[in-house]
Formats: sequence, structure tokens, C-alpha cells
Amino acid sequence: MSRVVIGLAALVGFAACGDEVLPVEELLKPETCQTCHPGHYTEWSGSMHAYASDDPVFLALNKLGQEETGGQLGGFCVQCHAPLALKLGLTVDGLNLDEVPAYAKGIGCYFCHNVKEVAGTHNNPIELAMDQTMRGGLSNPVENTAHRTAFSPLVDAESQASSALCGSCHDIITPGGVHLERTFAEWQTTIFADPDPRKHASCASCHMIVSTDVVAEGPGLDVPLRPFGRREHTFAGIDVALTPWPEIEAQRAAIRRDLKGALLPRLCVLPADAGRIDYRVDNVGTGHMFPTGATADRRAWAEIIAYGDSDQILFSSGVVPMARPYTDPEALGDPNLWMFGTPARDAGGISTEKFWRIATIDHPGTLLPPAVTTDPQDPRFYHAVEKSFAIPGLLPQIRRVRARVLIRPVPFALLDDLMASGHLTIDVRDQVPTHEVEGSVLEWTQGGDACVCPNGPPCP
Ligand code: HEC
Ligand code: HEC
Ligand code: HEC
Ligand code: HEC
Ligand code: HEC
Repeated sequence: MSRVVIGLAALVGFAACGDEVLPVEELLKPETCQTCHPGHYTEWSGSMHAYASDDPVFLALNKLGQEETGGQLGGFCVQCHAPLALKLGLTVDGLNLDEVPAYAKGIGCYFCHNVKEVAGTHNNPIELAMDQTMRGGLSNPVENTAHRTAFSPLVDAESQASSALCGSCHDIITPGGVHLERTFAEWQTTIFADPDPRKHASCASCHMIVSTDVVAEGPGLDVPLRPFGRREHTFAGIDVALTPWPEIEAQRAAIRRDLKGALLPRLCVLPADAGRIDYRVDNVGTGHMFPTGATADRRAWAEIIAYGDSDQILFSSGVVPMARPYTDPEALGDPNLWMFGTPARDAGGISTEKFWRIATIDHPGTLLPPAVTTDPQDPRFYHAVEKSFAIPGLLPQIRRVRARVLIRPVPFALLDDLMASGHLTIDVRDQVPTHEVEGSVLEWTQGGDACVCPNGPPCP
């Protein structure tokens, strides 16, 4: 433990003594912020940023990776999943995370709000000031007794620069040089990265929605309501906590809400080619591919079911059990399966999700592309993707057809592997969610229009 103390003292140095605000040691702790920013704290406490180095799958994979590489992986995983602990010398490889104090785990308040510089585009090149100033998007904050404040475009949701803060962790290049996760790189190709601030949408502007709360509250604080209220800190995505953790229901609700408008669908049932179901999905709501980031792990796919009289199933694709037996979509042996992903392979061409083994990733693979141009003349303007499912001869019997997109954070095969090798010691398979993308759900019924879409006929 002596290394810890030395590390802290060296980093925070003189800034900690004789001040009217709290010492850095106190500001490092998210609980310190809870007093005056209770809403931010509660939301963040349930986020994957808070959970990033408690996630049992993360711990199991890091351990396996360290073993398989003889420790060569080093701080690679914790540089993003526990960056403060790494910086303070509380861990070097993430193998002792159970001894690291909670405040230094995951991505805490201080890590984002003390940023001095973002010195790159991937693998967390974020430099902290290690001072008592909390950076944010307010230019005229009310003074307080805990910390100083400063405006920084890096933590201002209205500034394009803030995407560099988020993006620099949401873009991974492996030690072997594989550009594995590319959310930032993808976003940079979209219409949302427009330099014009009126057209621009940063990561934070979509992922941290505004509310009509004050920014700080509590005894002795008189803070006016800001025009943007305050920003939500749930950082909802796809992943959820797999072990007991705060705010699990709130996270799931935020995930459902954010997924709802991600995709715009269309479903047609046509007599062409002796009968055919066309399902179309358009990634209209995200600022990157769908899915994005951990695309080697994500399982996202379309489920199509055609029913006859008395709900007899005449045709189906992508019908994956939602509970036991734990089945990944690719294990169905479904010849029509439509998955949205990026196959990743090791040097021998075998499919793998283990970062350190991955030699190639087929990006963008079958991911759903985002909007990259507002020019209707540009061939990339139309970016919806459609798949046809042949139903030869079945059309006269079909009464209704249901289609939807489903998404899961991790494949069961990976969890089974980690359990079999003893790296994952608890069974979290029942906790793995399968989210329905609510806006993608459509139902066609016989006798109606050939095509259905969310806004009703005529379908575009
Ligand atoms: C004693 C109460 C108090 C505590 C404790 C506190 N803050 Fe604040 N904070 C405030 C007040 C007051 C404001 C100004 C709000 C306003 O003007 O709307 C503020 C503003 C901020 C801002 C906005 C700065 C800007 O210029 O945009 C950030 C970011 C911030 N706090 C982060 C934190 C973090 C992180 C912690 C914990 C390390 C923390 N605060 C602890 C009272 C506090
Ligand atoms: C992943 C980075 C990140 C983490 C972690 C984070 N924040 Fe923020 N926070 C932001 C961004 C970006 C904004 C938007 C600032 C703006 O546009 O004014 C923000 C805004 C704020 C503000 C200013 C008012 C507002 O809501 O717009 C406060 C206060 C704040 N955060 C406190 C906290 C506290 C307390 C924690 C931990 C419990 C925390 N933040 C964790 C990135 C982060
Ligand atoms: C220090 C690195 C770092 C920074 C900076 C960062 N993130 Fe993250 N983020 C992570 C990690 C690591 C995870 C995954 C944690 C896990 O699931 O174990 C994550 C998870 C997320 C998720 C949930 C993903 C999912 O599928 O569940 C969202 C959404 C997200 N971040 C958005 C943001 C936004 C917006 C910003 C900027 C305001 C930001 N992040 C800044 C490292 C970072
Ligand atoms: C135009 C709005 C928008 C912008 C801009 C945007 N996102 Fe997203 N993002 C979404 C939506 C909608 C989803 C899907 C909903 C969900 O996963 O909860 C999503 C999903 C995600 C996820 C979940 C990962 C997965 O498995 O698909 C992460 C992580 C994420 N975004 C990070 C970022 C980062 C980092 C940036 C900036 C580089 C960014 N987003 C820019 C709207 C946006
Ligand atoms: C450059 C930053 C970075 C590095 C390095 C990194 N991660 Fe992550 N990790 C993330 C982000 C960001 C997410 C969220 C991905 C998303 O939702 O798009 C994530 C998500 C995860 C998840 C949650 C499950 C999932 O697939 O979403 C696991 C497990 C994980 N990472 C394991 C690891 C391991 C093991 C390593 C080292 C071999 C590692 N990560 C290295 C940033 C990083």
C-alpha cells in the first residue's frame, strides 16, 4: 500500500494544502460530489462508467488475457476501465482490482471533469490537471466551497471538442494494431461531426440529455435554473450490470428509451418471386454504426415470424430463446439469419472475442450505417439496409408477419468459455439482457397494405 500513498502525494503535491476548497484527495471521490450534485451521482452510480472495473466479464477477460500473453497485456485494459487507479499506481494490470478502493474504480466524476488535454484519438490519451478545478460547460457558475470551476470545451456538450473526450476512450486499437472498436472514427464520418455548431451533435448532446433540474442543490446553495437544466449521467448503452449494483431498473429504462428511436423500419410482404418478406431498417437515430463499439461482442439481429391460421408458425428467422437454453443467434443454424456485426478472427482465422488474439476484424461488416451526408444526390444519402426472406408458396396461408430487431451485449459462448476455464466464477447468464429495439417492431396483416411502416401508408 505504500506505493499508493507515494503515488497520490506525488501527483497532487502542493495543490492540496491551505485552500478554501477541498483537497484533491477528497475531490477524487464521487461521494464528495453527491452532497451537492445528488442527481448526477445517482445516475452515474448505475452507469457502465461506474461499473467498468467491477464487471465480472471484464475481470475474467483481463485475467485470461494477462495469462495468455504472459503479462504483456499490462495496463492495456485498465487504461480505459480503471484509468484513475492506473494513474494513481493503485493497479498496474487490473489483477488486484478487488483491493482497489471503490473511488478509483471505473470512470469517475473527477476523471472527466478534471481533464486538461485529450492528446490523441484512441486508447484513452486523456491528461488530468490533478488540481481542484472542475471543468464543465457553464461559463458563469455560482461559486462553491468544494471546488473551483472552469469552462472547458472538452466537457461542454455543445462543443465539438467534447466528442474527442468521449471518443478517445470509445475507440480501441489493440496492442497488435487492430482497430477493434471505432465509435469515434465512425462518428467522425457522420453528419453529426459537421464543424458548423448549428448542425453538430456531440456524443454528449445525444447521450446526456437535458432536464429541468438545477445543477447543484443543498443547504446554503442558491443556484439558478440553467437554460439547459442539467445533463443526465446514466450513460445508457446496451450493457447492464450483471451483479447486484445500484440503479439497475433505471439503467434498463434509459436503455429502452434510447434504443427506441435508433432504427426506422419497413416491412413488406409481396407476391414477387413466389412470395417474399422484405424487412428494411434504417439507422436514423444514432451518431455511428448500429451497433457500435464492442461490435465483436454484440449480438444484434432481426427476428421475423410469419403466422398462419390459429397462430401456427409458417416461417421464421432469428427466433432465439430468451432464456435457457442459452443460445447465440449464430448457433441456431438458421440459413436466413440477418445479423448486424463485425466478425473478428485470430491469426488462424478462427472467430474470437478475445482482444489480444484478434488479428482481423471485418469492419463495417454488416453493421447498419449512419447518416453521412445531407445531400440527396450523394449515393450514400440513402443508407437503409433491406433483406429479403423467400417464402415460396406460403403467401396465401400467411395471416400476419411480425418483425423486430433484438440486441444483446455479449455472446453466451464467450461466457461459457470463461466459465469452463475457471476465469468467470459466477454464472451471470440469466442476467444477460436481450433488448428489443422498440421502434423496429412492425406487424403486417393480410388484407392490408403490402408494406407497413411506423408512420402508416404510403410507406416511403
Ligand atoms: C458544496 C457543494 C458542491 C460539491 C460538494 C461539489 N460541487 Fe460541483 N458545483 C457546485 C455548485 C454550486 C456549482 C455551480 C452550479 C451553477 O452555477 O449552476 C457546481 C458546478 C460544477 C460543475 C460545472 C462547472 C462548469 O464550469 O461548468 C461541475 C463539472 C462540477 N460542479 C463537478 C463537481 C464534481 C465532480 C464534484 C465532486 C468532486 C463536485 N462538483 C462537488 C457545488 C458543489
Ligand atoms: C464520462 C465523462 C463524465 C463523467 C464520468 C461524469 N461527467 Fe459530469 N458531465 C460530463 C459532460 C460531458 C457534461 C456536460 C457539460 C455541459 O455541457 O455543460 C457534464 C456535466 C456535469 C455538470 C454540469 C451541469 C450539467 O449537468 O450540465 C455537473 C455538475 C456534473 N457533470 C457532475 C458530475 C458528477 C458529480 C459526476 C460523478 C457522479 C460526473 N459528473 C461524472 C461528463 C462526465
Ligand atoms: C476514460 C475512458 C472513457 C471516457 C472518457 C468515456 N467513456 Fe464511455 N465507457 C468507457 C468504458 C470502459 C465503458 C464500458 C464499461 C463496461 O461496460 O464495462 C463505457 C461505456 C459507455 C456507455 C455504455 C455502453 C454500453 O454498451 O452499455 C456509453 C453510452 C458511454 N460510455 C458514453 C460515453 C460518453 C457520452 C462519453 C463522453 C461524455 C464517454 N462515454 C466517455 C470508457 C470511457
Ligand atoms: C445523433 C445522436 C448520437 C450521437 C451524436 C452519438 N450517439 Fe451513441 N448512440 C445513439 C443511440 C440512439 C444509440 C442506441 C441506443 C443505445 O444503445 O442505448 C447509441 C449507442 C451508443 C453506444 C452503445 C453501444 C452499442 O453497443 O451499440 C455507445 C457506447 C455510444 N453510443 C457512444 C457514443 C459516442 C462515444 C459518441 C461520439 C463519438 C456517440 N455515441 C454519438 C445516439 C448517438
Ligand atoms: C480504449 C479504451 C478501452 C480499452 C483499452 C479496453 N476497453 Fe473494454 N470497453 C471500452 C468501451 C468504450 C466499452 C463499451 C463499448 C460499447 O458499448 O461500445 C468497453 C466494454 C467492455 C466490456 C463490456 C462488455 C461489452 O463487450 O460491451 C468488456 C467485458 C470489456 N470492455 C473488456 C475489456 C478487456 C478485457 C480489455 C483489455 C483486453 C478492454 N476491455 C480494453 C473501452 C476500452
